[in-house]
Amino acid sequence: MSIRVFPDALEAFAVQAMHRQGISDDDARLAAQILVMTDTWGVHTHGTRQLRALLKNFPIGRLNAQAAAEVVREGGAWALIDGHHALPFVTATRAMELAIRKAKTVGIGYVGVMNTSHFGAAGYYATRAAEAGMIGIAMCNADPQMTIPGARGKVLGTNPIAYALPNGDKPVFLDIATSAVAANKVIRAKLLGQMIPEGWLTDADGRPTTDPSGFPEGGALLPMAAHKGYGFALLVETLAGVMTGAAMTRQQPSWVPDLAGHPPDFANQGQVFMAIDAGMMLSPLEFEERMRWLADYIHETPKAAGAERTYLPGEMEWERRERALREGFDLPPDVVESLRGLASDAGIPFPFEEAAAADRSQPQ
Ligand SMILES: NC(=O)c1ccc[n+]([C@@H]2O[C@H](COP(=O)([O-])OP(=O)(O)OC[C@H]3O[C@@H](n4cnc5c(N)ncnc54)[C@H](O)[C@@H]3O)[C@@H](O)[C@H]2O)c1
Repeated sequence: MSIRVFPDALEAFAVQAMHRQGISDDDARLAAQILVMTDTWGVHTHGTRQLRALLKNFPIGRLNAQAAAEVVREGGAWALIDGHHALPFVTATRAMELAIRKAKTVGIGYVGVMNTSHFGAAGYYATRAAEAGMIGIAMCNADPQMTIPGARGKVLGTNPIAYALPNGDKPVFLDIATSAVAANKVIRAKLLGQMIPEGWLTDADGRPTTDPSGFPEGGALLPMAAHKGYGFALLVETLAGVMTGAAMTRQQPSWVPDLAGHPPDFANQGQVFMAIDAGMMLSPLEFEERMRWLADYIHETPKAAGAERTYLPGEMEWERRERALREGFDLPPDVVESLRGLASDAGIPFPFEEAAAADRSQPQ
C-alpha cells in the first residue's frame, strides 16, 4: 500500500534513523533533505528508499559516521577529495560547494572524489551549482550492472550523469543513468511482480528480456540508446573512476552490503562535480536573457498531434515537488516497505501508520 506523507515529516523520520547510527545532526539533516527532495521530484528509486541499505554500511565499518572528507590534492580550478568513507551525501555536497567556490574565482571548478559510496540522485548536486549561477555537472561510477554492445553480462556501472542550468529558482536539469534505466527500476518491477519494457535488460546469455526476475543475480541492463549510452558510461568511468584513483568497473563492490560479497570490501566509488560560471563569457544578465529565450522557444515549439506541452528537463520534477510541498505526496509500496524495514533496523516507530489509517477512515 502507498502512504501519503509530507516532506517535513519524512525528513524528521530519516534524521531520527540516521541519529541511531551516530551521524551528527547537521549531516543527518543534509542527507535527509537530499533524499526527500529526490522523493518529492518523483524519483522514488533514489530517495529515502535508499537509506536502509546505506545505513547498513555503518555497523560493519564500510561507512564511518565520525569521518569527514578531505582535500588531498588541489590546483586553481580543480581538487581531489578523499571521502574517507564518510556519509556520501555530505561528501558530495561539500565537493560541489568547493567546485562552485573555484568557479567563482577562475570560471570553472572540477572536483573529483574517491573512497566514497552511493550519493543517490546525481541531479541534486548539479542543481546546487545552478542555484549559485553555475552550470552544474555531477556524475559517478558504480559497480557493473550494465552490458555493452556485443558483450554478455555486466561490464560497466549505470554511471549516471546530471547537468543543471541556471533558470531562476527552478534550474533546468537532466538527471539520468547511462543505462536504459536505473537498476532500481528493474528491481522495483521485480519486487512488484511486473514485466518490464523491451530495451531495458538482457538475460544471463546476453539476450534481450522483459522478465526482471533473474536480475541482479544474472543478466545485465542495456545501455541507453545502445552504443551512445555505452560511450557516455565510458566517459563517466574515466572522469569519475580512472582520473580520481577510485575503484573501476569490476573492482567496484556494490555499495549495498548484502550484494557486495563476503566479507564486503569498501565501496570506493569515484564521483565528479563540475561548476562552470554561466556568466563568464558574456555577462550573468546576458546569460539569463538568452537562457530565457531558449526556455520560451522550447515551450512554444509546435506540439505533436495529441501532445499538450513540451517540457524542459527537470520541469516535471519541480512541478511534482511544488505539489508535494502543498499537498503531501504518495510513497509507493516498495518505498514504504523499505522505510518500515529502516524503522525496524533503527528501533524507532514507523510514524506514518496513523496517517495511513486516518486516510482509510475518510469517506472515499
Ligand atoms: N548514484 C547512482 O549510482 C545512480 C546510478 C544510476 C542512476 N541514478 C539516478 O537514478 C535516477 C533515475 O535515472 P533514470 O535514467 O531512470 O532517469 P529517467 O529516464 O527517468 O530520466 C529522468 C530525466 O529525464 C527528464 N525528462 C523525462 N521526460 C522528459 C520530457 N518529456 N522532456 C524533458 N525532460 C524529460 C527528467 O526531467 C529527468 O531529468 C537519477 O536521479 C540518477 O541520478 C543514480
